[in-house]
Amino acid sequence: AQTVARTGEGAVAVGGLDVRALAEEFGTPAYVLDEADFRARCRAWRDAFGQDADVFYAGKAFLSRAVVRWLHEEGLNLDVCSGGELATALAAGMPPERIALHGNNKSTEEIARAVEAGVGRIVLDSFQEIARVAHVARALGRRQPVQIRVTVGVEAHTHEFIATAHEDQKFGLALAGGQAAEAVRRVLGLESLELTGIHSHIGSQIFDMAGFEVSARRVVGLLTEVRDEHGVELPEIDLGGGLGIAYTPEDDPREPHEIAKALGDIVTRECEAAGLAVPRLSVEPGRAIVGPTAFTLYEVGTLKELEGLRTYVSVDGGMSDNIRTALYDAEYTVALVSRSSEAEPMLSRVVGKHCESGDIVVRDAFLPADLAPGDLLAVPATGAYCRSMASNYNHALRPPVVAVRDGQAREIVRRETEEDLLRLDVG
Ligand code: LLP
Repeated sequence: AQTVARTGEGAVAVGGLDVRALAEEFGTPAYVLDEADFRARCRAWRDAFGQDADVFYAGKAFLSRAVVRWLHEEGLNLDVCSGGELATALAAGMPPERIALHGNNKSTEEIARAVEAGVGRIVLDSFQEIARVAHVARALGRRQPVQIRVTVGVEAHTHEFIATAHEDQKFGLALAGGQAAEAVRRVLGLESLELTGIHSHIGSQIFDMAGFEVSARRVVGLLTEVRDEHGVELPEIDLGGGLGIAYTPEDDPREPHEIAKALGDIVTRECEAAGLAVPRLSVEPGRAIVGPTAFTLYEVGTLKELEGLRTYVSVDGGMSDNIRTALYDAEYTVALVSRSSEAEPMLSRVVGKHCESGDIVVRDAFLPADLAPGDLLAVPATGAYCRSMASNYNHALRPPVVAVRDGQAREIVRRETEEDLLRLDVG
């Protein structure tokens, strides 16, 4: 976990650094990320899955060159889902064979760049894409390793927008009705593609292993069909990401070793039952690695007490640096971190500075009644899908990511400036 402590004056220190000093040096809002925690989580996943499996960090959760270097050093692979993420991975020196390219509508340019770079895996998502990747690989004289993404028909118990393996959505090829089997047939018939395995991602922020078990069983079922129909045993299975983290005290996440054991056991059992050699397993955690490693530091600007309702506490960021509350009804906690307070708790809603009333960071929170402008608040567990989904709404300047390590802090992504905004505005 993050090394967070109170200083003598009651302010919070992270990695040995007082949040007041961080706010002074880097400004607010800022994402403060604990590098040691990030690396420890990488190692926990790596060690839990061991030598016979691969961990692909899902870059969409948060990606920067520093993150790529940490992943490389800690022995993780990287899942990218766009040309931009691929460019970042390659710029930071990730060996291409450790990169997997995802996406339901990769452009021909993205595919060409990935094949040319020599990425270790392209995950195929549609019939058109099978033909497109085969064409690009053939033109470049390559034989590209690919997996096929299938939808296994699992209803993951999570928000509709982040559940992905039920059938009525845009990702993957359905097992039911034979689309996935047809995709296998086509890929096996193409010289420039090497089918290495089957991929399934069932959704995100999941706590219950049952969905993964069904997914693993159905994927092994397809491997069995493939063996029976084509006499080929595919050597890989990827079960995607989606493991939940604790945003609130009620959330009860599974540990990497529990996940590794559950997935390993089910895949082994199903393969043995089907008489298949156990394939190499891979997983793609994003949130579970980076989510808990960062918090967002805000400064309180105004307070508005609505008699009998609650107090609206406005901070200097909002939906532009954390869209998750507005988009998914996500729940967060918040704490006063620049000092301690013995004041009574007051029911509060932490809101941003954007021009709409849905601009909520933390819907319900108790903050001390003596909260005042200039106080610093921290919202924990914002490492995943906050900076990566940040926007310039209202021409907000996206906050920096400040990495803290051994009592030192540095920006790994700098704060945006007005010049950055105006540089794109060429009219
Ligand atoms: N693999 C694939 C193919 C994915 O589509 C995703 C996430 C992951 C792995 C990583 O999932 P994770 O372990 O981070 O849950 N913006 C949403 C989450 C969208 C996830 C999209 N795909 C949020 O803020 O909750």
